Amino acid sequence: MTKVAPSILSADYLNLGRDILGLERNGADYIHFDVMDGSFVPNISFGIPVLKAVRTITKLPLDVHLMIREPLHLIERFMDSGADILTVHVESDTEENIFKTLQRIRDRGVHPAITLKPATPAEAIFPFLPLCDQVLVMTVEPGFGGQKFMNAMVPKIRAISEYIRAENLTCDLEVDGGINPQTAAICRENGANVLVSGSTYFRSDDPAAFIRALRGE
Ligand code: DX5
Ligand code: ZN
Repeated sequence: MTKVAPSILSADYLNLGRDILGLERNGADYIHFDVMDGSFVPNISFGIPVLKAVRTITKLPLDVHLMIREPLHLIERFMDSGADILTVHVESDTEENIFKTLQRIRDRGVHPAITLKPATPAEAIFPFLPLCDQVLVMTVEPGFGGQKFMNAMVPKIRAISEYIRAENLTCDLEVDGGINPQTAAICRENGANVLVSGSTYFRSDDPAAFIRALRGE
């Protein structure tokens, strides 16, 4: 079944609690939580104190997307603060440290996930997949909500989906950036089963129907 993970990057921060309870009511499967450090990506969002606060008002799984350099030093604190899925960028550290990071997340019983920027080839993440419960394919340049879906990422989604199947891995395939009912259909057809949506979800007049439309229901 397809899961939908609204990104609270586009929520109303003055009414964050209300928006989170709203997305629970609207049938969201996860809450996507975008962390940016102003160095790995050219923007700063929110971090550990906000994650802790969000944890107190929802039981929905928190899908934390770390857009930060050298996440190894900070993952414990994100796990202490309530992350259920913890995603790191393959470009954010050395290969050795990315292995260490994913292993440490797994050892804590949190779901490890790996992601890659649009310019990074699919093959870059293959060595890490046996350690991961989820892969995130970025379909925009990370750093900002509201960008256009990059059609050029579709072959990458398909290649990763085929690799997961060929290797018999149990790994969800998530997409993030420019997801609306049309691009969601393309992603689902190419193997994605977790869909992130930020600006379009929060702009929708009927967010519950929007979530169903992303799932293709
Ligand atoms: C971008 C973030 C996304 C973003 C998606 O760096 O990773 O999660 O919130 O936003 P939309 O759906 O507006 O493209
Ligand atoms: Zn994200």
